Amino acid sequence: MTWNLSGDLDTLQHHLKDVDCHHSRFLVTGGAGFLGTWLCSLLISQGAEVLCVDNLSSGLRHNISSLEKNPRFSFILHDIAEPIQFRQKIDYVLHLASRASPLEFDQFPLEIIRANTLGTMHALDIATAHGARFLYTSTSEVYGNADVFPTPESYHGNVNTLGIRGCYDESKRMGEAISLAYLREKGTDIRIARIFNTYGPLMRADGVYGRVIPRLISQALNGTPMTIFGDGSQTRSFCYVTDQVAGLLKLLYSDAAKGEVVNIGNDTELTILCLADLIRSAAGSDSELTFEPLPEDDPVRRWPDISKATRLLGWRPKVDIETGIASMIHKD
Ligand SMILES: NC(=O)c1ccc[n+]([C@@H]2O[C@H](COP(=O)([O-])OP(=O)(O)OC[C@H]3O[C@@H](n4cnc5c(N)ncnc54)[C@H](O)[C@@H]3O)[C@@H](O)[C@H]2O)c1
Repeated sequence: MTWNLSGDLDTLQHHLKDVDCHHSRFLVTGGAGFLGTWLCSLLISQGAEVLCVDNLSSGLRHNISSLEKNPRFSFILHDIAEPIQFRQKIDYVLHLASRASPLEFDQFPLEIIRANTLGTMHALDIATAHGARFLYTSTSEVYGNADVFPTPESYHGNVNTLGIRGCYDESKRMGEAISLAYLREKGTDIRIARIFNTYGPLMRADGVYGRVIPRLISQALNGTPMTIFGDGSQTRSFCYVTDQVAGLLKLLYSDAAKGEVVNIGNDTELTILCLADLIRSAAGSDSELTFEPLPEDDPVRRWPDISKATRLLGWRPKVDIETGIASMIHKD
């Protein structure tokens, strides 16, 4: 599937008028993945230099092929769990490298743990050596099966360390602790985004990499049964990618956000059944629903409290789920 991101990038540039990336050099780990490609594309379109480090475990070279024609963009094939150094001065480090799809947790637990612990330390070592600002992409999964809604940053979480998701949830929690340890011991300028489910063009629908929205859209468009795990009464709050990327960059650029952890997501909660209905009607599909067992420790609800992001960053999501899904379906 080929996406033309230019319309969405124009909108993003409009929302980020106060962010000036000119003459800055960014290191983006995981830059060939879904969110990483969006960030690299936006930064390049804003005049920045970008070093993209990725081991292509879940990312695709194809995502960044047009960026590779730009002299301000460099791709470095590297596993961030191994140390790496750069001679050129780096101003900002965005650490996104980590497999993120629930089906990957089962198959690659050690890789995920290494990327979020050793990888986070290596990315922080670079930021510290260069005096660069550092953004860690954590996750709503640090809250585990939460029982406070909407969930604020002050909630400490309810994670099963022993379950199949423990490799992701606990290593992200550790990544947060590591980031704060660098701030406290070395003075590194860190900030942490707790990202809630984000979707949009470039997100994969295939195999173990597949995420719920692209997978349901692809099934609806192909007229094949749409897979629901459990009875579909579990909830999620889905954020369109342009809103997510705007939130991440506002967090990166906010001086007041040093040392802060901030939920970035959309605060409209809906059930997976409701999501499937919405996709089916937007696609004009008559696909049936097929039900499969709920994976172990699948959170019952996900609903972020985003008042801190609004207060600290002046940010709120703008794209509702109907608009986001329609734009994915009509770009197909
Ligand atoms: N998309 C979401 O809804 C969401 C939600 C919460 C958190 N996040 C976090 O945001 C980040 C990006 O997620 P995404 O959705 O773009 O996932 P993605 O799988 O599309 O991208 C991750 C990228 O990291 C790369 N990578 C993985 N391990 C690596 C390693 N050891 N060294 C170098 N590169 C490595 C992959 O090849 C891929 O390009 C992840 O850290 C993820 O945990 C995403």
